Amino acid sequence: MKLLEERIEQDGRVIGTELLKVDNFLNHQVDPALMEAMGQEFARLFKDEKIDRVLTVESSGIAPAVFTALALNVPMVFARKKQSLTLTDDNYVADVYSFTKQETNHIIVDKRFIQAGERILLIDDFLANGQAVQGMLEIAKAAQAEVVGAGIVIEKTFQKGRALLNEQGLRVESLARIKAFENGKVIFAEA
Ligand code: G4P
Ligand code: NA
Ligand code: NA
Repeated sequence: MKLLEERIEQDGRVIGTELLKVDNFLNHQVDPALMEAMGQEFARLFKDEKIDRVLTVESSGIAPAVFTALALNVPMVFARKKQSLTLTDDNYVADVYSFTKQETNHIIVDKRFIQAGERILLIDDFLANGQAVQGMLEIAKAAQAEVVGAGIVIEKTFQKGRALLNEQGLRVESLARIKAFENGKVIFAEA
């Protein structure tokens, strides 16, 4: 998505060889007009799918997910994160391991907010190692819902996430695909 790539080039800051800081339009300050355009683009990409619900993980997935849900005219649910939890029967829970932080967190969705047989679109801000999407897949499976695909704002193609998800036959659509960071510059993958 050209608008997003331009914004990344303009406002993104490369940290080392693996991280992109985009906190002035996505991860801290949020640009609503850009989020709206991204939501419309995800809706266009998945227009041939029947979708009942959009699922993301707090906090940075929420802005793109809510605009996607608006464009699709369906509800959006975000999984909550907790370090530790009191397990109850009312929630679906999945482990999400962060390679970056070397810790396992849980993501949690109330059972009322995903129904068996529903068709779910997953949205997230970054695809790195794919652990957040993997956790959402586990929750959808536990709910006996069907995942139609994952919409990712920024994919880093040099990390393991894409391969992990493709192995499971998941359709992944990314609005920007970054193949490397070189000398503080973003190198986009060919479309
Ligand atoms: P994974 O889900 O793909 O396995 O991601 P990983 O564990 O590697 O990343 C942990 C957190 O860091 C996630 O956010 C993820 O979105 C974010 N992240 C990964 N790569 C980048 C990057 O290059 N730039 C930025 N800005 N973030 C990145 P989170 O901890 O869930 O936080 P949030 O959703 O509350 O923002
Ligand atoms: Na995230
Ligand atoms: Na994030």
